[in-house]
Amino acid sequence: MDNIRLFFALCCGILCGACTHTTTPPSDDVLVPLQSISPFPVGVAVDVGRLLSHTPYRTVAETHFNSFTAENSMKMSALRPDASSFYWDEADTLAAFCKQLGARLHGHTLVWHNQNPDWVENFQGTPEQWAAMLKKHIQTVVARYKGTATTWDVVNEAFDDNGGLRPTIWRQHLGDDYIAQCFQWAREADPTAQLLYNDYNVEENGAKLQAVLLMLDDFQKRGIPIDGIGFQMHILDTYPPLPSIHAAVQAVQQRGVLIHFSELDVSLNFAKTATALTEGMKQRQRQRVEDIVSLYRTIPAAQQVGITLWGIADTDSWIPNFFSRLDWPLLFDEQYNPKPALYGFLDALRK
Ligand code: XIL
Repeated sequence: MDNIRLFFALCCGILCGACTHTTTPPSDDVLVPLQSISPFPVGVAVDVGRLLSHTPYRTVAETHFNSFTAENSMKMSALRPDASSFYWDEADTLAAFCKQLGARLHGHTLVWHNQNPDWVENFQGTPEQWAAMLKKHIQTVVARYKGTATTWDVVNEAFDDNGGLRPTIWRQHLGDDYIAQCFQWAREADPTAQLLYNDYNVEENGAKLQAVLLMLDDFQKRGIPIDGIGFQMHILDTYPPLPSIHAAVQAVQQRGVLIHFSELDVSLNFAKTATALTEGMKQRQRQRVEDIVSLYRTIPAAQQVGITLWGIADTDSWIPNFFSRLDWPLLFDEQYNPKPALYGFLDALRK
């Protein structure tokens, strides 16, 4: 009997008795579009070229998501070929795509230390000229997407992991209070957009979170127009521990501001020991995604910006390239089929 069962399980690839290895989802895994049952926006970072050229990519984007972030096309290096002009084509294409779908465009990102054009890195000017250059950038971009980009990462990654202010070109030339200025300039350009500070490792609940909280408290005291915090959530299957993420979220939540999980991916091969994605890894990722989405659901609805995935399929992820390792951090496989992690997201939404 057991042998027959084993034979069937191997032939059919179905869940069988105590065997947890399966290639088909359990029977209660009903696939529905993520956004169709989500009480908050479910977003994804996209490559605009791929959105235009690859049908499976676009189909998944249109089906499951109702908020879109340009993975690169709205960064300063993409928008600013030189000091006097703007290159809008890709960002405009994404904005039009969002409008057509009735989806949100999440603006990413106005001010960062990475992906700046050479002319900015080499800019020669007084502090006033630096300020004028950045103000013009922020206000032109925000004004152009007013009404479509209703949420913005105004400043990205301004703190280091020890909680210090990064020595970026912006800080160097505009002074330590540059973050506050950037939020004020963005607010002037769009009084209704939700303005966020975005960073990674905030979910670790360590020194960087403390620095972000100090900034938030200071901005709230001074009336600097900050609406919330983006937790990038580039996390591992086992790190940070869920209680740390929860504590970090609660600390921000208590301040009454918005919370965006803005760049979620769940790495499975941080140690670089895996050479293939196993069933065990898939299931661990499924549980992790379910836990993260369940945690997000504990945030009051009025403070939820949404959860944004940093890419569609594993093959689209920035992680293998950026960190030189094999990895499978997203919700869809290379064929654009749902992975167990997608069902983990759905499970948390159905609870
Ligand atoms: C990444 C993109 O995904 C890559 O394509 C690019 O080469 C580098 O930047 N934090 C951020 C994102 O705020 O903008 C980064 O995106 C990933 C880390």
